[in-house]
Amino acid sequence: MYGFWLFIHLSGLCVWLGSLVAVGILLSAMKKQIHSADVGALVKKTVRTFNFLTHPSAFLVLISGVLMLLQMGLGSDKPFWMIYMERVGGMVILLFIIVISIMGRRLVKRISGGGVQSASSSISSYVTGLAVSSALVFSIIFVVSGKY
Ligand code: HEM
Repeated sequence: MYGFWLFIHLSGLCVWLGSLVAVGILLSAMKKQIHSADVGALVKKTVRTFNFLTHPSAFLVLISGVLMLLQMGLGSDKPFWMIYMERVGGMVILLFIIVISIMGRRLVKRISGGGVQSASSSISSYVTGLAVSSALVFSIIFVVSGKY
């Protein structure tokens, strides 16, 4: 069973981080053409699809991590990399789900409102949120890879 949860953990991580990076790059490119109604509709569709894909995969990373920890039964005798992954990783996942959901909803609302300027600045904040989240996830992968 442990192997199965590790598979879910790593697969969830692949989908989560992959979609974070891909959508960040796509939205940055679309921002320049946001005055077009077609591009506005495409941005809305991208954000909705992204939300549908990324939040469940981030949640799976968290749940599978907790289940593996329970199976390992290490108690307080854990190496630093594992404490870092558990605490910082858990916090990043929860914050990510809350903050990116709120920002995504605001972005969709602003595009529907029709204001090019506000839609464009909302895309910039959203992309910044995605970049910060990716950087935090990469920092966790770095610590876990080195088993510091
Ligand atoms: C952004 C969040 C996270 C990232 C990037 C991440 C990354 C990883 C990676 C790359 C591995 C494979 C390590 C290896 O087998 O050598 C792993 C394993 C593991 N992760 Fe995470 N993880 C995250 C969140 C969490 C959370 C929140 C928990 C627990 C609450 C957790 C618990 C575990 C456990 C128990 C293992 C198995 C370690 C082992 O077999 O030695 N992870 N994680």
